[in-house]
Amino acid sequence: MLDPTSGRTNSDGLTGPTLGSPSDPRPAFGAVRGALRSTTDLPRLGVGAAKSQSPARPDRLPAYLEDNYRWAYLRPASLKIFDRNLVVSAILWGCYGRLKRAAFVELEPGQKVLQAACVYGDFSTHLAGVIGPEGSLDIIDIVPLQVANSRRKLRRFPHAQVRVADAAEPGGGPHEVVYCFFLLHELPDQHKRHVIDALLDQVTPGGKVVFVDYHQPVRLHPLKALMGAVFDRLEPFAKALWRREISSFATSAEEFTWRKETYFGGLYQKVVAARRQPSDENRSAP
Ligand SMILES: C[S@@+](CC[C@H](N)C(=O)[O-])C[C@H]1O[C@@H](n2cnc3c(N)ncnc32)[C@H](O)[C@@H]1O
Repeated sequence: MLDPTSGRTNSDGLTGPTLGSPSDPRPAFGAVRGALRSTTDLPRLGVGAAKSQSPARPDRLPAYLEDNYRWAYLRPASLKIFDRNLVVSAILWGCYGRLKRAAFVELEPGQKVLQAACVYGDFSTHLAGVIGPEGSLDIIDIVPLQVANSRRKLRRFPHAQVRVADAAEPGGGPHEVVYCFFLLHELPDQHKRHVIDALLDQVTPGGKVVFVDYHQPVRLHPLKALMGAVFDRLEPFAKALWRREISSFATSAEEFTWRKETYFGGLYQKVVAARRQPSDENRSAP
């Protein structure tokens, strides 16, 4: 059996900004969540939604999003707080730039690209710039507020479109490269499976899906206890990525080659699933 994570390399560096005290994750995440409680709720999907070009437009938001991430994605005030490079970089312990660079090396200018969910900060504008006007960027998100916000950010890039769709039914394919940047850890395991399968379905032979997300840090990682506490309190589905390989959620993992790199003491991972071509040798299953 081929180890799906073979080819794993480790490009660590255990330095980064200190955000909050190790015994109290709230300054980094929970305090912001508390501050958002008084803001106006976002209407459910379909009310005041941006115009969709998606063949599979969801008619309501999934419970995991309503129950766990209302504070982060469903309130207009969230955009003002979180949609800044500095904030995203702080939440990612200074690794935002490094993780974006790791993601974008998988891409060639002119390619047809899908981004499976909106991302705060300049991820999408940066990505659109790397793709260039010869290519295309198709961004989906299940929350109309996030779609409208990304459309605003991408106004300068006519080769980028943003639409409402569930990553479990993205449509618009096939694509040459698909990005899934910090979405999986927010999904219950069953949704992880659906989204991973749907994104893998989007790519033709030679195409690839690039997952960037959390990963189990090394045993003595100074942030391991803090991140564990943050996840226990705020991100109930994230620790599944500490226990399981992303490839293990895929129904047809053997149709892909899997490559993994970890960063920042293992706290983050990039997993690249490339669809095998008929000419590929070593067609062994993971
Ligand atoms: C990419 S993830 C996390 C990104 C990261 N925390 C950041 O810096 O923005 C957040 C986005 O995923 C979206 N999302 C959640 N579930 C989704 C799904 N099933 N399909 C498409 N988008 C989804 C949310 O609406 C949100 O905009």
